Amino acid sequence: MGMEQKLMHSDRIQLANEQLKQSSAAQQEDRYRLRYHLMPRAGWMNDPNGLVYFNGEYHAFYQHDPSQPYNGPMHWGHAKSEDLVRWEHLPVALAPSEPFDLGESGYGCWSGSAVEDNGRLLLIYTGHVDGNSPVEVQCLAVSSDGVRFEKAEAPVISAPPEAGLSGFRDPKVWRHGDSWYMVVGSGKDGRGQVFLYRSADLRNWAYMGIAAQSDGTMGDMWECPDMFALGEQQHVLIVSPMNMGAVKTMYLAGTMDYENGQFKPVRAERLDYGFDFYAPQTLLDSMGRRILLGWMNMWGATMPEQADGWMGAMTVPRELKLTEQGELTMQPVAELARLRGRHTALEPQLLERDTIRPLPELRADAVELIAVFEVSEARTEEFGLRLRCSEDERQYTEVAYRSGSGQLLVDRNQAGHGDGGISEVMIEPMADGRLKLHLLLDRTSVELFANDGRRTITNRIYPDPDSLGISLFSRYGETKLVAFDAWILQPIW
Ligand code: FRU
Repeated sequence: MGMEQKLMHSDRIQLANEQLKQSSAAQQEDRYRLRYHLMPRAGWMNDPNGLVYFNGEYHAFYQHDPSQPYNGPMHWGHAKSEDLVRWEHLPVALAPSEPFDLGESGYGCWSGSAVEDNGRLLLIYTGHVDGNSPVEVQCLAVSSDGVRFEKAEAPVISAPPEAGLSGFRDPKVWRHGDSWYMVVGSGKDGRGQVFLYRSADLRNWAYMGIAAQSDGTMGDMWECPDMFALGEQQHVLIVSPMNMGAVKTMYLAGTMDYENGQFKPVRAERLDYGFDFYAPQTLLDSMGRRILLGWMNMWGATMPEQADGWMGAMTVPRELKLTEQGELTMQPVAELARLRGRHTALEPQLLERDTIRPLPELRADAVELIAVFEVSEARTEEFGLRLRCSEDERQYTEVAYRSGSGQLLVDRNQAGHGDGGISEVMIEPMADGRLKLHLLLDRTSVELFANDGRRTITNRIYPDPDSLGISLFSRYGETKLVAFDAWILQPIW
């Protein structure tokens, strides 16, 4: 062990990059690889980390084990993009190397964030040591070229503010006025909470208190908090609560009082209604847009791509906005339209009761599709789309709206391999009586944005490679299709 411990961070990085080369070379099957989402070259990926707009480029770091497609000692993988569409992989940025992030088991450079300070890029992450009685501290690493990072010798926050916590991790740092602020995720006595810190120099941090806390119904530990200003005078806090049943991410919208360190929510809602959306993080870009990436998998899920030597992906970048009613919306960033290839439009038409209408011109596994339906006054009908359908129609993923109950469903019980289950959310038609479904299909993922991003459902699916059909359907009544546009999307890899 003595020898092992003496390796410097730069040696560990070199090792990680070599491991990654080997694991990439060993990877042969590409059946589940995505065509336009960010994913690791090989090995494991979870949370997005350190999302930042730096020197005119978007950087995305992520939790990563370069050596194997399983949850192991966490490194920070790194990719960048000029346009949020095409990504370029960069060398591993952080590797466990110090007493505060390297241990016997269950250790690593856990999640965190990035900021720019005087032309340098700083990563603030959790050093996590030892699974059973974990020690979690907040650490710093600095880079002047945005690629090679040097760790500060000691953690910048070396102990939690109080005892008896379930977790003290995932620092998210931002600037407000003349100070830096940091939220850190935690939980106590069965309630998730976030701590707030303030600093003038990103090294000395003063504890300001508990900025927000669960009311007892929102999980017992809040992972990956992210707080930011959005719209006029509003702040949003996003958290990933542990042990909140099917609910994996929440947003709280309200106001932040920087003087007393208190966040006052006026709304708390689930963020995404799919099975595969976790630990999202945001950045602010030069156009003032608030952009989010989420981990497009879930702890505990079956992960069929592990058999192929890799695991994990990010959602497409999504722009966040608040509606006049204070609801958070997520929409794919406008730049994604650059991927659009062959276009298919359908004339407005009636889908007869109990029909399935195949769309042979759309046989593909990377497709964007925007369909607008008129919800009838009788509201007896069920309508929607089937994706990744096999020739014999036994395999498919169904996106359905039940007009009577207002349920929007993504049913993957016939989707193929991997976990089944039905994702579900209530949504009313828009003011004009229509329902708008915007879908991004990418081989093993389906991202659904309903009514201009008012509700989203994000799921992974693992169909057979030749299940490529897409169809429209209507049941229990007829359905008016008002508009339909679809594009085959070009691959970025
Ligand atoms: C969330 C999380 C974080 C932690 C990281 C470890 O998915 O559990 O709380 O920092 O993953 O990889």
